[in-house]
Amino acid sequence: MITLTGVTGFVGPHLVRALRARDLAVRCLVRDRRRARRLGEWGAELVQGDLRDRESLERALAGTRTIVHMAKLAQGSARALGEVNREGTRAMVQIAERQGVERFIHLSALGARPKPQFAYAYSEWQAEELLRHSRLNYLILRPTVIVGPGDPFSAGLIGLVRRWPVCPVPGSGQVRYQPLWVGDLVRCLLLALDEGGSAERTLALGGGQILTLEEMLLQIMAALQRPRPLLHLPRRPLRRAVRLLQGLGLSTPWVPGHFLGMANVADPGSIERFFGFRPRGWSDCLPQLLACPAEQNLLA
Ligand SMILES: NC(=O)c1ccc[n+]([C@@H]2O[C@H](COP(=O)([O-])OP(=O)(O)OC[C@H]3O[C@@H](n4cnc5c(N)ncnc54)[C@H](OP(=O)(O)O)[C@@H]3O)[C@@H](O)[C@H]2O)c1
Repeated sequence: MITLTGVTGFVGPHLVRALRARDLAVRCLVRDRRRARRLGEWGAELVQGDLRDRESLERALAGTRTIVHMAKLAQGSARALGEVNREGTRAMVQIAERQGVERFIHLSALGARPKPQFAYAYSEWQAEELLRHSRLNYLILRPTVIVGPGDPFSAGLIGLVRRWPVCPVPGSGQVRYQPLWVGDLVRCLLLALDEGGSAERTLALGGGQILTLEEMLLQIMAALQRPRPLLHLPRRPLRRAVRLLQGLGLSTPWVPGHFLGMANVADPGSIERFFGFRPRGWSDCLPQLLACPAEQNLLA
């Protein structure tokens, strides 16, 4: 039995579908059974619960041998992020240790770092530390930004070009990205599940191409044949505006904090070295990203 968390997010359904295609027994911790209905149709067992509800985690992990922990809060106060990302992982680790779980795969993020001023990145780091100090056979994967049909990052950039007369760009637009195709991440996860263990236990994963934000926007414009002037905006006011819009419940392609200013780039050869295949580059994925509806969701 493989127990998964975070299955109703962007990545989760892709992994559940791939595991069920292999006819593996899958149990999913879900907060809302109705939203997860499609996972049940694929043959996954659903356990209603929440990372903040220990009793539900006990139920989800009963008799499980393998865990893939993907549930995460990406935005919110430091307190809320700590409660879900750190404390939720702590409870998972404690239950897994007690039950003698054989393998714990943890999806973290490239930006995880021990800096409390970046609340999300810090909560990811703290969750990682709990695993590093555990007795578990764990693997921490730290992906760069993950892209695929309907992903919020690409959908945001594509939406800017489609709908806006000008393209607002944070700073110089030269921040580098290495987007990882969701299918390639799923392939890494399947290989990691097959393999059962490795000496390297914290791996940064990135896609097959590194390019700047400006390059990505220009490629989208060329593909859509919609040239737009780039409007370079100073990062600080843009960050404030993004926070304000998000506070009002409006999504933007920009994530405040480290994401607006820091390179999102991993070791370019890590997937090939550890998993033995070459991941796709963003330009190669672009036609598929453009062809899908912005809100495409495997669970719909
Ligand atoms: N997407 C990226 O570009 C990216 C990049 C780097 C790393 N990652 C990592 O990859 C993993 C998956 O990312 P994603 O984009 O698929 O995430 P996502 O779309 O934000 O989904 C988050 C998932 O976590 C669940 N969740 C949130 N709070 C929870 C709680 N209190 N209890 C139980 N479940 C809870 C959500 O459930 P609900 O549906 O009920 O809200 C959802 O299933 C995450 O660990 C993330 O850190 C993602």
